Amino acid sequence: MSNNGNGKEPILSIRGLKKTYMQGRIPVHALDGVNLDVKKGELISIVGPSGSGKSTLLSMIGLLDRPTEGSVFIEGKEITDAKESEAPRIRREKIGFVFQHFNLLHTLTALENVDIAMRFSGVSRSKRKIRAFELLSSIGLGDRVNHRPSELSGGQQQRVAIARAMANNPAIILADEPTGAVDTKTREVIVSVLKELSRKGQTIIVVTHDMAVAEQTDRIITMRDGRIESDTGVDMK
Ligand SMILES: Nc1ncnc2c1ncn2[C@@H]1O[C@H](COP(=O)(O)OP(=O)(O)O)[C@@H](O)[C@H]1O
Ligand SMILES: [Mg+2]
Repeated sequence: MSNNGNGKEPILSIRGLKKTYMQGRIPVHALDGVNLDVKKGELISIVGPSGSGKSTLLSMIGLLDRPTEGSVFIEGKEITDAKESEAPRIRREKIGFVFQHFNLLHTLTALENVDIAMRFSGVSRSKRKIRAFELLSSIGLGDRVNHRPSELSGGQQQRVAIARAMANNPAIILADEPTGAVDTKTREVIVSVLKELSRKGQTIIVVTHDMAVAEQTDRIITMRDGRIESDTGVDMK
């Protein structure tokens, strides 16, 4: 099953995904049979009560951890059976992560924070610099490239983090509460950046508590007790 992401195949497929953690002797079914298909360019939000499995689902998609059962396919290729030694490369090439607290390196400039994400990608130093500058410019930070995180607002820092997530042209961006640490006005700036990237074809999955964010996405998935309780995939094109 080969797929460049432009055809009818979903860019992400999840089948029968289960993850059971042991809390002492008690098994906790963090994921209890999740099935999901995501198309290229979709902007999806995942909502649900605390403990419903949202972060666990992201860590399975991002290959930060392995499921107990089931499979995750990205661009038609199963990632959940990859060797441990291959996991860092798959993560780097296929996934861009955006976090609530930005997780930028504080001693580096905005440009260097984006550049460093490409360090192991085989791209030359000068090309990395050009790409980092282009990515930052494309989200309105062209005049902030030499600023360090402490010299940037929360919204600007999160935009640097989004540029960094885009650096290796990932199949999917995973964002866990990307607006959780910013004010309402900044939230709208971040959401509009994500919408714009989605419009250009980037696939994005956002975990959020904030219905004002979820309502601006193409599709809202509600999780409960490790399962998908509802999926408002309005357009099933
Ligand atoms: N590393 C872990 N070890 C044990 N239990 C865990 C671990 N990670 C998550 N859990 C449990 O799995 C369930 C789902 O957690 P999580 O995916 O973090 O939910 P959410 O992100 O929706 O709040 C919770 O009951 C949580 O306590
Ligand atoms: Mg969580």
